[in-house]
Amino acid sequence: MKFFSYQDGALCAENVPLADIAKQYGTPAFVYSRAAIERGYRDFAAACSGRDALICYSVKANSNLAVLNLLARLGSGFDIVSGGELARVLAAGGRADRTVFSGVGKSEAELRAGLEAGVLCFNVESEGELERLAETASAMRKTASVSLRVNPDVDPKTHPYIATGLRESKFGIPCDAAMPLYRKAARLPGIRVMGIDVHIGSQITETGPFLAALDKVLEFVDALDAAGVRLGHLDLGGGLGIRYRDENPPAPGEYLGSLFARIGDRRIRVLLEPGRSLVGNTGLLLTRVEYLKHGAAKSFVVVDAAMNDLIRPALYDAWHDVLPVVVPRGGTSRRYDIVGPVCESADFLARDRELLVAPGDLLAIMSAGAYGMVMSSNYNSRPRPAEIMVDGARPWLVRERERTESLFASERLLP
Ligand code: LLP
Repeated sequence: MKFFSYQDGALCAENVPLADIAKQYGTPAFVYSRAAIERGYRDFAAACSGRDALICYSVKANSNLAVLNLLARLGSGFDIVSGGELARVLAAGGRADRTVFSGVGKSEAELRAGLEAGVLCFNVESEGELERLAETASAMRKTASVSLRVNPDVDPKTHPYIATGLRESKFGIPCDAAMPLYRKAARLPGIRVMGIDVHIGSQITETGPFLAALDKVLEFVDALDAAGVRLGHLDLGGGLGIRYRDENPPAPGEYLGSLFARIGDRRIRVLLEPGRSLVGNTGLLLTRVEYLKHGAAKSFVVVDAAMNDLIRPALYDAWHDVLPVVVPRGGTSRRYDIVGPVCESADFLARDRELLVAPGDLLAIMSAGAYGMVMSSNYNSRPRPAEIMVDGARPWLVRERERTESLFASERLLP
């Protein structure tokens, strides 16, 4: 089933024409499909059936409460990286005992909040963090379950900004340093060694790098086993890519199938932290054309969305498909850059696209369900877009458009 498709020349989210959404809620707006989110999760879960596995959706990809709530209702766990994400998971009805706390710089307050809530596991990234967690847990008379996040030094073959498992990366603990740290962890008060964690990057479109990382982790599990430390779970992180343009990432079943095959009949629980692969293609950014502008060397479609709403093109030179919301009835197309009103030359959503457009037309910037709204900002004092979740024939407002007054409501003047 296609969750975004043309019906009689009108691009629809499920059964709702995007033009109706623009009319009712204005633009720019992020639009999500409930059915797409549910299908994505169910496909992933089906690929885990028969295995002791827990899917911990990576909240950073899209943390709208409605998204988290749908996933919680389907039984998903969560992967969080801040106290803010923990609060969102709890507010959305997610379970702390299915939540893993990742991140390279957890503050003491965040460690405390995780312990208070009773998270399943802390993915520890340094000796300093391990010590701080032991002290904090002991002071609270609690025990923190931990995995060490190892850095396997594997090239994920993705954009350098989203590669996290190379030796020069700030993430994880080098494998040779991890073994002594496990021994230390096993002796520390307030700490229970629970698992091992790895995450090598994002938008990875082949299984090779995942398997290379898994092999290193399995070697480690065996070495720990021999040293008398028996782990309860392997957390294999997230990172599975999606199709933005012409990528051909493995389907979840293929990706998970090859991981499970490599794990074989070891009796160990597997945790997964997918983000983008669950929600990336379940949402789009709906925007309206303000002006057409023909420069000396290029032509521009100036739209009402900008880099502050969707920063991926500016930050990673990422490709997002651009579709007309109403199929044009004829005329000649032209090659355009699709740009926003922000005062930066990096403020583009797409470049060199053949389009037939006029001022007032609506465009859909596709594949904006992951790392869209969550990375938005108020740069140029632009209120953030509304978020709408379509369920069948009904759109639901799941986040109001930000109001201009609220942008500076917490600012103060000097006397
Ligand atoms: N687990 C950990 C520890 C992570 O750091 C991440 C993503 C994930 C899971 C989820 O990865 P995913 O399945 O979504 O690839 N803003 C960038 C992506 C940054 C990813 C950061 N970490 C982008 O827009 O491409």
